[in-house]
Amino acid sequence: MIISPSVLALDYSRLPEQVSELNASGAQWLHFDVMDGHFVPNLTFGPDILKAFCKLSNLYMDVHLMVSDPVFFADIFIDAGADMITFHYEAAGAEKAVQLAEHIHARGKQAGISIKPATDPEVLKDLLPYFDMVLVMSVEPGFGGQAFMPASLDKIRTLRQWINEAGLSMHIQVDGGINAETAKLVREAGADVLVAGSYVFKRNIGEAVRSLEG
Ligand code: DX5
Ligand code: ZN
Repeated sequence: MIISPSVLALDYSRLPEQVSELNASGAQWLHFDVMDGHFVPNLTFGPDILKAFCKLSNLYMDVHLMVSDPVFFADIFIDAGADMITFHYEAAGAEKAVQLAEHIHARGKQAGISIKPATDPEVLKDLLPYFDMVLVMSVEPGFGGQAFMPASLDKIRTLRQWINEAGLSMHIQVDGGINAETAKLVREAGADVLVAGSYVFKRNIGEAVRSLEG
């Protein structure tokens, strides 16, 4: 299991201290929720914040673009230090998604594609070979602290089955409402990368990460 704490929930008045705790927590990735106030009704951070994290941490920088124009923002966040760029199928559509995945790979980074709770995973079936990861949103994107939507479990099972049948090796990431209980459910369904925001930062970071690893 890879744990990717979402820095959306971090206490920004204690940034360096919280990042050192993350570095020592056993988490391998850090999850950055980039929101543009248009694709989702919330605004978060730009590339300079990611650059600051890169100075403080060597963890794998997992950038989740919740933006209407992922083609424009992908390069900006790669330049700032992203290792993985995940963008939304709903923002790109199939053709642009493939082109953007190829561009991200040409820049030496990994590419992920995400679907919102209302989107049928079927739209991703033919796109899977172009990506390193699929991100199943288990809450409506935009805000931390929401309750896990159990309907995401079937989506994870279906995607894992397609990935296995196609002989692909790719991650399934789940984002939203992850805690020790829901982590177990999504792991059993076939997810291998867990994003967790409020659960991690409301308690001891290292203990929270360990409790999610299973
Ligand atoms: C929601 C974000 C999530 C969020 C998860 O739009 O994509 O990454 O930070 O937060 P929790 O773990 O609090 O549900
Ligand atoms: Zn996210």
